[in-house]
Amino acid sequence: YMVDKGNHRHFMEKEIYEQPEVISHALAHYVDFIENRVNPIAAAIDFAKVPSLAISACGTAYLAGLVGKYWFERYARLPVEIDVASEFRYRDIPLSPQSAALFISQSGETADTLASLRYCKENGLKIGAVVNVKESTIARESDAIFPILAGPEIGVASTKAFTCQLSVLAALAIGAGRARGTVSEAEEKQLVRHLAEMPRIMGKVLNSIQPAIENLSRELSKCKDVLYLGRGTSYPLAMEGALKLKEISYIHAEGYAAGELKHGPIALIDENMPVIVIAPHDRFFEKTVSNMQEVAARGGRIIFITDEKGAAASKLETMSTIILPNVDEIIAPMIFSLPIQLLAYHTAVFMGTDVDQPRNLAKSVTVE
Ligand code: G6P
Repeated sequence: YMVDKGNHRHFMEKEIYEQPEVISHALAHYVDFIENRVNPIAAAIDFAKVPSLAISACGTAYLAGLVGKYWFERYARLPVEIDVASEFRYRDIPLSPQSAALFISQSGETADTLASLRYCKENGLKIGAVVNVKESTIARESDAIFPILAGPEIGVASTKAFTCQLSVLAALAIGAGRARGTVSEAEEKQLVRHLAEMPRIMGKVLNSIQPAIENLSRELSKCKDVLYLGRGTSYPLAMEGALKLKEISYIHAEGYAAGELKHGPIALIDENMPVIVIAPHDRFFEKTVSNMQEVAARGGRIIFITDEKGAAASKLETMSTIILPNVDEIIAPMIFSLPIQLLAYHTAVFMGTDVDQPRNLAKSVTVE
């Protein structure tokens, strides 16, 4: 690829800062910003007729799919079966041939994801591919291609592909909701307006949070373990935060559903393990804050990633609080991706690891 780092130290940093631009580009393909409607491309799959949706992917693409599940279920009232591709392909899942399946893959070449696709095809499902590389095998073998238009991603740790996958899945879920009559025209317009605001808000966040993130990263780089917690769509984000950190800084990290804290990870809480709580002021906020209280009561150090409303509403003492603007629920996962990406990035920079090519990892995994 003829791609260079520009003024950035690493491709990963460049790709993080590129997000407002590539997301506007991707969204322009899926939504009409004049009418505030989802474009007919979402209709390549007849969401009105399908009884359920299957989603399969690996790594970061899987976590994007998990956020997508919350959206398809909430906005389109469409039941979603999702699993990592290496399990999906062998689980003997009972699949209805009337259903559709979505395969999410940056490269479009991941072996397990491709095998899941072929399995669904043999079972008669309609196949959709959410891919970055439009000429890839996964794209070629699909009935409908939903490009994420992120441009070449060089850093092994996926960043802009993740938020572009999320943006495309959000548009598809809204389109599916329209087709199924679970999202009204007025709601569609409102949701699309929120998507339209996203690139500008991302730009604002990227321009303002770096100093706070760098300070925090210096602390994180001294840690051996980090726990990430979240509820609702912030749960997959917690897993993505942990994945990003372990991939490039080699610090052990785990992402957990906030409500599961008391069923295990709470045993690990002490002053040495930071707990990163991802909690926009949404329907789940109070619940997550009560989980945070359980951490605080045991002397745990909390890094709170929230929005203005959330920061004002919580009285808990934290080691650090990262405050993002208040945004609608539909775009919160993309906005909250920024601090978790930057946190992993700066921590790895402090540790001096090879950020763009972390040890033992490959950008594209074409073997099982
Ligand atoms: C590898 C990469 C990850 C990626 C995963 C799935 O593990 O290191 O960044 O999320 O594969 O790749 P895909 O190309 O299918 O999205």
